[in-house]
Amino acid sequence: MKFKVAILPGDGIGPEVMDAAVAIMETLAQEYQVALEVSSHLVGGASIDEYDSPLIDDTLQACYDSDAVLLGSIGGPRWEGLPHDKKPERALLGLREALGLYSNLRPAKVYPAMVEASSLKPEFVRDTDLVVVRELTGGIYFGEPRGYDAQQGWNTLIYNREEVERIARVAFDLAGRRRGQVTSVDKANVLESSQFWREVVHEVQGDYPDVTLKDLYVDNATMQLVRQPSQFDVILTQNMFGDILSDAAAMVTGSLGMLPSASLGEHYALYEPVHGSAPDIAGQNMANPLAMIASVGMMFGTTCNLPQAEQILDKAIEITLADGFRTADIVAEQGEPVSTTEMRDRIAESLRRLMEEKRITASPA
Ligand code: IPM
Ligand code: MG
Repeated sequence: MKFKVAILPGDGIGPEVMDAAVAIMETLAQEYQVALEVSSHLVGGASIDEYDSPLIDDTLQACYDSDAVLLGSIGGPRWEGLPHDKKPERALLGLREALGLYSNLRPAKVYPAMVEASSLKPEFVRDTDLVVVRELTGGIYFGEPRGYDAQQGWNTLIYNREEVERIARVAFDLAGRRRGQVTSVDKANVLESSQFWREVVHEVQGDYPDVTLKDLYVDNATMQLVRQPSQFDVILTQNMFGDILSDAAAMVTGSLGMLPSASLGEHYALYEPVHGSAPDIAGQNMANPLAMIASVGMMFGTTCNLPQAEQILDKAIEITLADGFRTADIVAEQGEPVSTTEMRDRIAESLRRLMEEKRITASPA
């Protein structure tokens, strides 16, 4: 299989975690006979420095020409003072919009070895395995009119039927392959747009008799998420609530540095870690590459349609953590942290071991 990947390392720790992830991607590609064709491009602050724009046409074109986009992270204090449409974050929003990436999947899973790293008590986080399905190209992030002047600032929260239906289908389909439970999060007690959201989601559920649907107001959902995250399977929600809930869900699992995400549309796919560019630790070879590496896993599982590759990588992450290897953000109290590159090598080693075992069990005695 031939497979074209556009790599956008971005800013801060982005390039370091991307290097680690690309190495793992190459190992997996070899194992599963995927002929990778990789090209790398500047985005965000790095692109501003070089081209005076966070996202140039050539970069966007490379994404259109690819089977999948891998993005590191974007932004940093150096570019914070720039006007709104010049900010590094515009690149991310521009990519989402241009590539039609309306569906954002953010899994939050607690690895057994990481139960202690959560800020919550172990008995409440154990067995947490949920996915936030966030609508990504609509809602208040993109609604018009928007603006501000000296007297007021305004944004528009609007959803149309098609937008709600298609994201609801993503959530119900996913739940059907998981534990069959969707929680739709809204603010229908206050917002008409949420009443509409709720009605449409319930209509769509008619096509999914095997999936249960529960509605929660966003304030209650947030409380439930930090009270007992293991109660959730698939959380379906609008753009801004999903932004907030997915950070909370990420923290529950122990570290933002662990969580991957997929942003999908009808034609394109982008994979990126949930964490940001962490400028305070950039360039020090200490960032946790696991979220970026797991994003590569999601790419293999989703766009390459090789779930076995995603599963074996997930297993490699799990056993590496269980062996006690941790970067500084997740290191145990008495432990010695490993560097970004060492974590990369440890994952690669676990991966090779697992692939070797698989070959031995697969070959006839
Ligand atoms: C995220 C980020 C972005 C968002 C920012 C950087 C624009 O917080 O992907 O969650 O709000 O969507
Ligand atoms: Mg966010």
